[in-house]
Formats: sequence, C-alpha cells, structure tokens
Amino acid sequence: MIGKLNHVAIAVADLEVAILQYKTMLGAVVSEPQDLPEHGVTVVFVELPNTKIELLYPFGEDSPIAGFLAKNPSGGMHHLCYEVDDIHTAAETLTANGARILGDGKPKIGAHGKPVLFLHPKDFSGTLLELEQI
Ligand code: CO
Repeated sequence: MIGKLNHVAIAVADLEVAILQYKTMLGAVVSEPQDLPEHGVTVVFVELPNTKIELLYPFGEDSPIAGFLAKNPSGGMHHLCYEVDDIHTAAETLTANGARILGDGKPKIGAHGKPVLFLHPKDFSGTLLELEQI
C-alpha cells in the first residue's frame, strides 16, 4: 500500500540554527521558511535527491509540535510520511486492521495541500506516521 518516502519531519528548537546546519554544514538545498498558520508550524524544506526533510518549528500559540519540543528540548525526529495512491482506501484498510488514525479518524488537507492522515505512534513501533495521497 505505501509507496515512496515523501519526507522525514524534524522538529527543531531553533530554526535559524537548523537552516544554517543543513545549508552550510551539510551543503543541502534549503527553501525559505513558510509560515502555515492553519497548521501551527513554520516549515523549511530540505531537498534531497531521493526525498525531502521538513524542518518544523512552532507557529502561534497552539502549535501541534509545542508539546513534542517541550518533551524533546533539543528537537528530534517528529514523523515519517509515506505516499499512498488512495487515502480513503488506506484509512479503511488500516482501521480494519486495528490501527488508530489520529484526530477524528478522517483524512485532512495537509501542509502540502494534499489529503493526509496521521497514525498513532504506539501502533507503529513508536513512530508517528503520516500518509499522504499523491
Ligand atoms: Co509531514
């Protein structure tokens, strides 16, 4: 069911420092920061030949990554995103097999304008998974 690894998301404690590390120390192609108020994050994309890294930084008061950064003050890997062809079929198959979809259990429009859902990390070896319909 899952296809390509679309991105790895890393929550960062200091966005400027993280940008400098990826640009200068690691020599990667790094986008300008984009504020996504409706998702409560500022995102920077690191373009790699085979996938993307998303640097996530809290935006606004109720950021969904504020709690993660409180528990992981130096930042850390936040989620992996796999591509799927059909998000609704994926959701049905997963729930039928006992996996828990976060929120109200329905796909939402994600940070890239495409349908996504998030799966409970306890159901997947302690890793928060995002599925994105491409
Ligand atoms: Co993501």
